Amino acid sequence: MALMTNEKCKVEDIEEVEPETKVESRGRETKLCSVRDLTPEERDRLSSERTLVSDFKQIKLEKEAQKNWDLFYKRNTTNFFKDRHWTTREFEELKACREFESQKLILLEAGCGVGNCIFPLLEDDLNIFVYACDFSPRAVDFVKENPLYCTERCCAFQCDLTRDDLMENVPEGSVDVVTLIFVLSAIHPDKMKLVLENISKVLKPGGVVLFRDYGMYDHAMLRFKSGNKLGENFYVRQDGTRSYFFSKEFLAKLFLEAGFDLVSNEYVLRETVNKKEGLCVPRVFLQSKFIRPAHPQSS
Ligand SMILES: C[S@@+](CC[C@H](N)C(=O)[O-])C[C@H]1O[C@@H](n2cnc3c(N)ncnc32)[C@H](O)[C@@H]1O
Repeated sequence: MALMTNEKCKVEDIEEVEPETKVESRGRETKLCSVRDLTPEERDRLSSERTLVSDFKQIKLEKEAQKNWDLFYKRNTTNFFKDRHWTTREFEELKACREFESQKLILLEAGCGVGNCIFPLLEDDLNIFVYACDFSPRAVDFVKENPLYCTERCCAFQCDLTRDDLMENVPEGSVDVVTLIFVLSAIHPDKMKLVLENISKVLKPGGVVLFRDYGMYDHAMLRFKSGNKLGENFYVRQDGTRSYFFSKEFLAKLFLEAGFDLVSNEYVLRETVNKKEGLCVPRVFLQSKFIRPAHPQSS
């Protein structure tokens, strides 16, 4: 249930491609402190979905997660997601977290896809080194083929964030900023904590994780047809890739249990116009920051 105290903190124009339909949309963003209100129809729709995908199919989806993402990039190559030019505006740490002006910023983009987040940053800021990893070997190849890729400024590698130790490619405690942009939602909720623990080892004490992903009651969550529900707030798309929709509380608990401190955590609501369907639809994202404490509390 949404609280009545939703605070509208900031409004801006944002442009993006809607992942589900590939429909380009434009909208204004509003920061919200609690989940958006559902209409009675939306509430009925969500509560009527009780049947979950069978255990057999769920195990198969988990086993084939990497294959399904790799096939996604085989079909869509570099054409699906738009370059994310909003990151430096939304996350000032990407520019401001240096202790001295000439300091090189070391960044890890975990689950980089084909590099829509990192290449605008590399273009924008010459004094940055980027580690970028993804599950999909094809996605990593696309990153390496990008004309902006050069080994002096980037290191891209294939890795399953739930299983492969990041320290095989990234020195322990060396990274200033980790970006997790629409990645954790693709991972089974039971394995999300493993990803955060993996990231924590390469992050410097005092280093920051910048997170943006699908939020509770995003339009994409309400579009899923029956037969696509895997669990609470967790769904499978037609192509076998999965998507979790985050509440603030779930995300905060996940990070706190992995040893991080909370800096900020808020919903971003964007009323977008889906030009193809002529509809105004609410997109909801969760945008958050966490730090690895400089002096971890002993348990
Ligand atoms: C929606 S895309 C986002 C890509 C990129 N961060 C961006 O902003 O465009 C999600 C990415 O997560 C990757 N991914 C999913 N599970 C993963 C895992 N266990 N380890 C590493 N990457 C994973 C997928 O291959 C896919 O490229």
